[in-house]
Amino acid sequence: MQVLLLGAGNVTSRLNMQLAEQGHSVVAQIAAFTPQHLDLFDFRAIIVISPESSVSPESLVKAAERGKLIFVVAGVGDGMSSWANGVGVPAVAYPPSDMDLNKLLEEMRRAEAGNLASDDQYRRAVLGSDMSARIQSGMAVRKIAITSPKGGTGKTTVAVNLAVSLALAGITTYLVDADGNAGALQYHMRMERVNTTMIGLLRREIARANKGTRTERSERIMSDVASGAAFLNAFTPLENLPTLRVLPGLITDDLGDEVLQQEGKVAEVIQGLYDAGVAAGGVVIMDVGINPAHVVHRAALKSAEGIAIVIKPEIPDLAETRRWIARMINSLASVVGKSSAHEFVGSRVKLCYNQVVGDGFKAAHKMLQGALTEDKIELALIPNGIIPIVDPRLAAQAVNSDRREDILIWRYKKEKLEELGPFADSLLGFAAHFVPAAREGAMRVGLIPNQTRKRKWFGK
Ligand SMILES: Nc1ncnc2c1ncn2[C@@H]1O[C@H](COP(=O)(O)OP(=O)(O)OP(=O)(O)O)[C@@H](O)[C@H]1O
Ligand SMILES: [Mg+2]
Repeated sequence: MQVLLLGAGNVTSRLNMQLAEQGHSVVAQIAAFTPQHLDLFDFRAIIVISPESSVSPESLVKAAERGKLIFVVAGVGDGMSSWANGVGVPAVAYPPSDMDLNKLLEEMRRAEAGNLASDDQYRRAVLGSDMSARIQSGMAVRKIAITSPKGGTGKTTVAVNLAVSLALAGITTYLVDADGNAGALQYHMRMERVNTTMIGLLRREIARANKGTRTERSERIMSDVASGAAFLNAFTPLENLPTLRVLPGLITDDLGDEVLQQEGKVAEVIQGLYDAGVAAGGVVIMDVGINPAHVVHRAALKSAEGIAIVIKPEIPDLAETRRWIARMINSLASVVGKSSAHEFVGSRVKLCYNQVVGDGFKAAHKMLQGALTEDKIELALIPNGIIPIVDPRLAAQAVNSDRREDILIWRYKKEKLEELGPFADSLLGFAAHFVPAAREGAMRVGLIPNQTRKRKWFGK
């Protein structure tokens, strides 16, 4: 493992030698650590020899944000040791006995084997271990499809910002481009090198399914299902946000690919992605294109626990939403009956008005509700998300700049641009419909201000 060693005393020097003996590589040994060092050296883990170095917990949190693993050697009663124990970072005593050193090396081996995950360290470092445990047990909706009945309403904007906000708030998030009309998520996330993409994954899974003898195939399937590994390793982690992993989608050239004809296999892969992300303790967000009949979309909608419909509060969007809902209910009703169909749609659909100006969405929502009643659709839909329009310059920078951190919500966290305050606040309000603790997590990490939310829209 590539290690940055913090300390300038005898214990540090001894550890430096021992690490080399164990096959680790110490990229540098420095006495004082600041976040600037994160750009200077290329390493996977930091070992802090507390009494022999100068480093603050805040700087270590910055390191955890960048996906670095942290190990601590500190005396009892040393502030660093209580910090490490508080957030659950592996720590041994200073000066370390042979047993302590072995324990440290063992922790590093566990980390290399994938048993100490950088997303988990990030979560605990930014939230503390109590809240981190709470957030992981309190997810209401973990399989989320973001769609719309009409193009250009802001599906990808909402999907990307929702994923980044959950990830910043400490929630492991798997973001999938499941837009069969070429969703361009890869560009939104500025990813140059990726493990694979949706088409790559589909090709790989179809080839695997057809390879080997029957017994070999079923054995392989069993072992993959057990670990979900085949799907998890399709995601590409982002080096500057360890809680976010992304699977880019189809590009224009892929749209006629024959693997998309194999509907059963496509559905299996989509479901496998949802299940693997959830089994790994995360939420899965799929950016699902328009046209619910497309094989990829149909699979992504069918297996979702929550379906966010992103629309602008405008008549064309409302009219298409009315049709989308009616069509969904009718096609389900023919299979499961009318009341189950209503129940399915009513419990899953979360309406998200986007690019909202003032409170104009209220009249729009009334129109939609009226139209559904006219269609004899008994659904009391509420506007779960009300995302304001943001300054077009900021919206353009969010997709055009080469810095990934210019994604709106990320930018708000870093620069606290006042214009983005309402966007951040409403986005986190929407996120709380899926992960109720998301707002609290977001406050802990300083993403949104720590205050009770003004209930300006629905409060009496
Ligand atoms: N809240 C907002 N404020 C300002 N601009 C926005 C907002 N949401 C989306 N946009 C802008 O609207 C345009 C369309 O957004 P986006 O690409 O997210 O839509 P989409 O529904 O994913 O489109 P497609 O159907 O092509 O996949 C983009 O230029 C985006 O920057
Ligand atoms: Mg899109």
